[in-house]
Amino acid sequence: MADTLTITDNRTGRTYELPITHGTVRAGDLRKIKTGDDDFGLISYDPALVNTALCTSRITYIDGARGILRYRGYPIEQLAEDSTYLEVSYLLLNGELPPRAQLAEYTRAIDAHRAAPDGFEQLLDGFAKHPYPMGVLTASVAALSTYHPESRQIFDEAARREAMYTLIGVVPTLAAYAERHRSGRALVPPDPSLSFPGNFLAMLFGEPGKPYNPQPVLERALDLLFVLHADHEQNCSTFAMRAVGSSHADPFNSAAAAVAALSGPLHGGANEAVLQMLAEIGSISHIPEFITRVKAGDGRLMGFGHRVYKSYDPRAKIIKRTADEVFEITGKNPLLEIALELERIALQDDYFVSRRLYPNVDFYSGLIYQAMRIPTDMFPVLFAIPRMSGWLAQWEEMLLDPETKIARPRQVYLGPDRRDYVPPLHHDRAGKERPEAERAIVHGLHAVRPGADGQRVGRDSRREHAAHPDRRPLRHEAVPAVPLRRSQRRRFEHRDAARTRTRAATPQVAVHDRARLLRRRRSAR
Ligand code: CMC
Repeated sequence: MADTLTITDNRTGRTYELPITHGTVRAGDLRKIKTGDDDFGLISYDPALVNTALCTSRITYIDGARGILRYRGYPIEQLAEDSTYLEVSYLLLNGELPPRAQLAEYTRAIDAHRAAPDGFEQLLDGFAKHPYPMGVLTASVAALSTYHPESRQIFDEAARREAMYTLIGVVPTLAAYAERHRSGRALVPPDPSLSFPGNFLAMLFGEPGKPYNPQPVLERALDLLFVLHADHEQNCSTFAMRAVGSSHADPFNSAAAAVAALSGPLHGGANEAVLQMLAEIGSISHIPEFITRVKAGDGRLMGFGHRVYKSYDPRAKIIKRTADEVFEITGKNPLLEIALELERIALQDDYFVSRRLYPNVDFYSGLIYQAMRIPTDMFPVLFAIPRMSGWLAQWEEMLLDPETKIARPRQVYLGPDRRDYVPPLHHDRAGKERPEAERAIVHGLHAVRPGADGQRVGRDSRREHAAHPDRRPLRHEAVPAVPLRRSQRRRFEHRDAARTRTRAATPQVAVHDRARLLRRRRSAR
């Protein structure tokens, strides 16, 4: 059986055969389907790209129906159990797990890029007093491009890798600095003797000049959360990274776009929103009322649902188990009880069951971060730190893909047909176009006649202008507002006539030849 799709266009009766590759048809093939020579051809309409493959990729695999997530073929459960974030980062970037020596070399390369650029603290001084950390991170990541102009050589492998290692290495530092700066605490520089997650905890909670020993369970839990968040194929922020990168923007500016996309509550901001939601619910007894509101369309159950997963998010399962280990050290987060009961009720409710809404990665991650004493609005930042590896792997794959072109989707235009411009002032407050006569009143065009005679005309329209609520200042205010005396008027008339004659004469006479000009004027009279 041929892997093709046969389409009959009922507008023309013509039949087309399109090849099917990897379960997809090429949207470009639809362009052949036309009603005539001047028809652009059929295009596919897919708001939010719900059913459009943007690219081919060899990085991350998700089977949403069966709750499967794999990085480069390795199941997330195995990586979570046995790997570390930097090993996973290497895997995402290079396609294979690193042998021990290569992992050590990669770790050294990332560690060598932990320091923030000189002068970065001054940049932090420029933000508002208590800035939202994701805003600071977006701006800081973009600002890195100013310190690394060579990163614009995106097709030079060495320059590209240097920028990638910089981003992976320095982002935890930028994040920790943003948090400490806004809470008025002295910055703690990176400690090369600590692991990637341990160093982040030290920069967040340590004291300058004093050694910091990260709690091993918390250090491992953070590393595991980093593994789980490292990549997730074509999500909103990865799409932003690929789309911006496709214009050949440098990796810092492309990554800033990805951080910005991640900040929204429907994406990376959901972990923060879950905590706010749990705090608002406040007690188990309020859950049924909250669920009723969600089902009525008043808000969403944050941390539930996913575009791709139509079963339990495998990351959420792992995080739920990790939460218990963390709470043994930190004490139980009081909101955990509410979260567990919320999940139990939702998973029995037909609204959530029929829509296949299950807990996603963000439902339990925030509870762990909160137990670690990380401020709620920093949670999306903790998502961004490890996702940097995924973004960069996807960015490089996009750049090196010979099929890549600048991202430039089409649209279906449904707006007005051609029409002539009408200045905004020609509309009344309700947006209706004013009749010509009213426009003149608004502009005071009836009140004073422009020109030399300055004669006042239309007493009534002048009054109407003064009374009109939308009146514009008169354009001819310098012109006398009182009627001119006869003698004055004659003087103006005389002057006007002379000007008219001069204008007529000037083109034929050299300006400096004043005597000749006067002679001409006299003879003209
Ligand atoms: N609570 C209540 N109803 C929901 C929810 C939810 N969390 N999610 C989806 N629905 C309903 C939605 O109202 C719609 O119902 P109906 O068919 O009656 O209109 C139906 O389920 C389908 O929803 P959708 O909005 O078409 O689904 P989507 O694929 O566009 O949205 C989502 C996916 C993740 C944005 C959405 O499920 C959501 O808003 N969840 C809450 C936010 C959240 O937890 N985001 C984190 C996602 S995982 C981390 C990441 O990768 O970013």
